[in-house]
Formats: sequence, structure tokens, C-alpha cells
Amino acid sequence: MCRFNEILFAVSVLCISNSWTKEMTEIEALGARPTHCTYEYAFDMYGANCAGLRLGKIPRLKGGIEILDFSDNKLQELHADTLSGYTGIRFLYLVDNHIYLIDEDAFSAFTYLETLDLSNNVIFELPNSILQLPSLRKLYLKGNPILHKSLNALTIVRPIKAPLELLDISDCKIKQLPNWGSLPQLRFYNISHNPLTSLSTDHFAPMCNLERLDLTESTNDMQLCSMKSAVMWFQAKKIFFQLEDYSKLNTNEFNHCPADDIAIHNVTYHRCKAEYLQVQSIKTSRRTWLTIGGGLAGFLIGFILLLWLMHRHNVAQTKTKAEKMKQATPANDPDKNATAILLNNVS
Ligand SMILES: *[C@@H]1O[C@H](CO)[C@@H](O)[C@H](O)[C@H]1NC(C)=O
Ligand SMILES: *[C@@H]1O[C@H](CO)[C@@H](O)[C@H](O)[C@H]1NC(C)=O
Repeated sequence: MCRFNEILFAVSVLCISNSWTKEMTEIEALGARPTHCTYEYAFDMYGANCAGLRLGKIPRLKGGIEILDFSDNKLQELHADTLSGYTGIRFLYLVDNHIYLIDEDAFSAFTYLETLDLSNNVIFELPNSILQLPSLRKLYLKGNPILHKSLNALTIVRPIKAPLELLDISDCKIKQLPNWGSLPQLRFYNISHNPLTSLSTDHFAPMCNLERLDLTESTNDMQLCSMKSAVMWFQAKKIFFQLEDYSKLNTNEFNHCPADDIAIHNVTYHRCKAEYLQVQSIKTSRRTWLTIGGGLAGFLIGFILLLWLMHRHNVAQTKTKAEKMKQATPANDPDKNATAILLNNVS
């Protein structure tokens, strides 16, 4: 009877809440969202999901996380102690927060960090230390509308140590691209939706593995002829560049633009290629040594196992031999008896 009452109650609650959903305001819908971080495995990694919780601070999280999604919250400042204790994080998503301040040492301990997404914040100054993170491959800074105010004053420590493969500084109101120097690993570069005033080949020559460049809505404030050399460079180096409208490159005006000799940038380009090859060969040799080491360890373990099995086999054989001898030995032969006992003891 008691159980039935419970079910009846649950059903009536369900009915009532169903009739409510239609008139549920947005605020109520927000209130129904989870209030705690949840934990899950993704790609063999342990991750915490704290997205959309309207948190102003990082709460106490479980240790050992490698992914943290803290998107859509109200974080404002990042200090050295903001994420200390979670320095094993490899993928960090801080999209859609109110971050304006990042201390120089906020990420210094994050040696495993591979992806850092700081999109849609109000970051004023980019700390140099982020560009020196030894594992950082993807950096998203898009939609930071005040970043441009400090970017040109920023003295970037070069060479940038982070092995950046993707850099997204789209939609940051940037007029003049900062001088990153050599970025030999860079393959995807998003500088779209910025009011760029020029495109200089100098900027792209030390990005010798660039495959794709997004320039959508970034060249409208630019003199057509000031793009000429860069466009020729992209074509020569087979860099796919995205524009909202390619037709302006098909005009007579563009065709008659004077162009610099792009070959003068080959030196920079080839230096970058050499750097890239060096890094690749270090990686390959490290991998080779790991393989050799692993193979050697496997062989040793196998060998020890074989020795142990042989030893066991020998012991068993000696035992049976001794037993057979014992049976064959007359009780009155003290000499042979002693041998049998001795053999028995050995086993
Ligand atoms: C570059 O950034 C813009 C705006 O942030 C985005 O819409 C676009 O998809 C990005 N491009 C690529 C190739 O990812
Ligand atoms: C320099 O670059 C241009 C354009 O890519 C190429 O045609 C030329 O062969 C290069 N010269 C040298 C010396 O590498």
C-alpha cells in the first residue's frame, strides 16, 4: 500500500511537471541544469565536465584528471594557484568565461598541456609563458576583443618553444599581426574576422609547414596591392588561404600590382624547414630508442621466464628420478639410501 502511494505520488509529480514544462521560463530551465562537475572517460582519459555551471571559481576536483571542460562559467582571473593540483591536464577548455587576467605563471607547471581554449573571454594580455609550454599544440584565443590593445607591445620571447600546430586569433580586432617568429610545426592559422591593415610575407615565411590560413573578413581594410606578395607566396608554397571572396584577385588591378621578389624569403623558409626536420629526427630517434628498449626488456623477461621454466622442469625430473631410485633401492643398502635422501633434499 505504501509502495503504491509512492508510485502514485511520483506519477502525479511527473504529470504536474510535464504540464509545467510548456510554461517553464528560461530562468527555471537554467535552474534545472546540473550544479556539480561530472566525471567521465573520453579517449582513454579521465575528464571533468564543469561546463555551464555559472561558477566563479574552480571547485575542488578529483585528482588525476587529464581533461577539464570549464566552458561557459564566470571565471575572471587565472593565477598560479587557480588550477594547481591539476597539472596533469592535457586538454583545457575555458571558453566563454570572463577571463581578463592571466598571470605570467598561471600555466607554468602545465608541462602536459596540449590544447588550451581561451576563446570568447576578455583577455587583455597574453603571457609569454603560454607560448613556451612544451607540449602545447593547439591554442585558441578567438573572440578576445581587447587582446589587440596589448599585443603589439608584447615582446614575444623567441623562438616560441610551444610546438604549435594550430593557432586561432580570429575575431580579436587585430590590425597588425604580432611577430611570432619561427613556428615550424604550425599547420592551421586562423586570423579571420580581424581588421588587418597589411599582410607581409615576412610573417608567413617562418611558418614553413602552414597548410591552411583563414583570412575570411580580414582583408577588407587592406589595399589590394599590399596583398600581392603574400598571395604569391601562398601560391608558391601551396598554402590554402580562405577569403570570403576571391574575385578581387581576378581583377586587372590586382594583376598589375607590383610584387616583391618572394625568393628573398626562401632563406627564412628553409631555416624553418631545417628546424622542423631536426625536431622530427629527434622525435624519431626517441621513438626508435623506446622501441629498442621495449624490445630488449621484452626479450629479457622472456629469457628469465624460460630459465625459470627450465629450472622447474629440472627439479621435477630430479624428483621423479629420486623417487624411482628409492623404489629400486633395497632397504638394507645404506649407501644408496643415503644418495636417495640427499637427492630428495635437493629437490
Ligand atoms: C576561423 O575562425 C572563425 C571565427 O572565429 C570561424 O568561424 C572559422 O570556422 C575558423 N576557421 C577554421 C578553418 O576553422
Ligand atoms: C625560392 O622560392 C621560389 C618560390 O617558391 C622558388 O621558385 C625558388 O626555386 C626558390 N629558390 C631557392 C633558391 O630555393
